[in-house]
This record gives sequence, C-alpha cells and structure tokens, in this order.
Amino acid sequence: MQVIVTPDPGAAFQQAASIIAGEIRSNPSPVLGLATGRTMEGIYSLLVQDHLQNGLDFSTTTSFNLDEYVGLPVSSPQSYRHYMNDHLFAHVNMRADHVHVPDGLAEDLNAECQAYEQAIYDAGGIGLQLLGIGETGHIGFNEPPSPFDSRTRQVTLHPVTRRQNAGMFGGDANKVPEKALTMGVDTILDARHLLLVACGRSKADIIARALLDTVTPDVSASALRLHPHCTVILDTAAARVWQERSALVS
Ligand code: F6R
Repeated sequence: MQVIVTPDPGAAFQQAASIIAGEIRSNPSPVLGLATGRTMEGIYSLLVQDHLQNGLDFSTTTSFNLDEYVGLPVSSPQSYRHYMNDHLFAHVNMRADHVHVPDGLAEDLNAECQAYEQAIYDAGGIGLQLLGIGETGHIGFNEPPSPFDSRTRQVTLHPVTRRQNAGMFGGDANKVPEKALTMGVDTILDARHLLLVACGRSKADIIARALLDTVTPDVSASALRLHPHCTVILDTAAARVWQERSALVS
C-alpha cells in the first residue's frame, strides 16, 4: 500500500485525477470503478476540465459505480445516478451503454445485484477502482460488519452514514434511504488497482483505524491492506491521526 499525503484537498484531488486520467490515456479500453460523495466532486471536476481543455477521451471507457440508494428514481437529485450525470457523465464523451450504476428501483434487487456482478465480469473486471471512506469505515456502502467475501448485494445503511449523508436530504437523516445496493468488499478487492481518497478532520480517526489497527470486517476499509496494489491519497487533516500514531510506533 502506498500512502500519499498532500498539503490540502485540492492537491489530493489533483493527484487522484492524474492517476485516473493516466489509466484512461494508457489503456485502450479502461474499466473504471467510480464512487460518489463530496470527496469525489473535486476529482470529477478536474477530469471534466481535462476532457474540455486537453481532449481526455472517455469514448472507450466503461464505468461501474460502487453503489446506489434503494427506492430513489434517477430523476431524484439525491440518487447516485443523478449525481454521476451531474458531475461527470453529462460533461464527457462516455457512451451511455458503457456507464453502469446499480438500479435501486429494480423489481428484483437480488437479480439486479447478480446481473451487476456479471456485467463487471463480462467487461473484463475493473482496472482502477476509486474509493472514498465513510465515518463508519465503509468502502462503497459496506457497513460494519461486512464480510470480506461479500459481493454486490442489498445492505442497510448505518445511522452514522445516514447522518453523514443527510446534507443532500435537507439535513434530515431520516430522509436518507435506509437501504442501498453496493458492490461487496470482495467485489472491490477484485479490481486491479484501488485508489482511496480521504480529506478532512472527520476522516482522520477512521483512516488511522483502517491503516493501523486490526484488519477486520468491522472496518471495511482495513481490507484494502490485503490488496497488492492500493494507493491511498490523504490531505494533512485526514492523515494527522495516522501520522501521529505511526510516529509513536516507529
Ligand atoms: C459513495 C461511496 C461512499 C463514499 C463515502 C465518503 O459512492 O461509496 O463510500 O465514498 O461515504 O463520502 P464523502 O466523500 O461524501 O465523505
């Protein structure tokens, strides 16, 4: 695992965007795993800028999003499909049939999860998977405890996550859906390169737990330490507790 600490969130977003753009430029048919959330907004904005100013070409890129709320229509601004359209898909030249977000309105959610796994497999697997981390230690929506052999499935969101994401729902955690579809921990670990980005003080404690404490299903992000090619990009605020504790150990 490589951990990169940047002076501020802007520099973290730059580093992440340049790794993603590198994957797109160097691979004739890149398959990206994508995430949503506040951390990703700055990264997508830089990728859109790269497309508009330098012609970064998304035409052969396929993408799979990590997760989606259950029960929200695409037209809802809070749905992750809507978020992706807003922040990336509407601004770059990705083909509509190359873009995948789990369908949280599917009649048969189990069948939807299985079809999602199959689609990832059929695309040749994910080359680069972008990840954020939740205050519960989740990656995707793999709330504690999430078995490390879990695959795409329906999950119940942790109350801490519903509070964390309440901003998009007028600040009311009760309005955040209780259920979501998410790639499993094992689905995520199948990607060839994992790229976790975390910024801000609110992520510092969980980052330290994920990077230093026991590898456990109680902190899904700790599973990243089992992966042979994982890059973690932190700003100084998110890195602080990890750095303090690492200095004590060495
Ligand atoms: C979203 C996702 C989540 C977020 C995490 C951090 O698709 O998979 O794991 O990456 O909750 O969210 P922010 O960036 O809003 O703090």
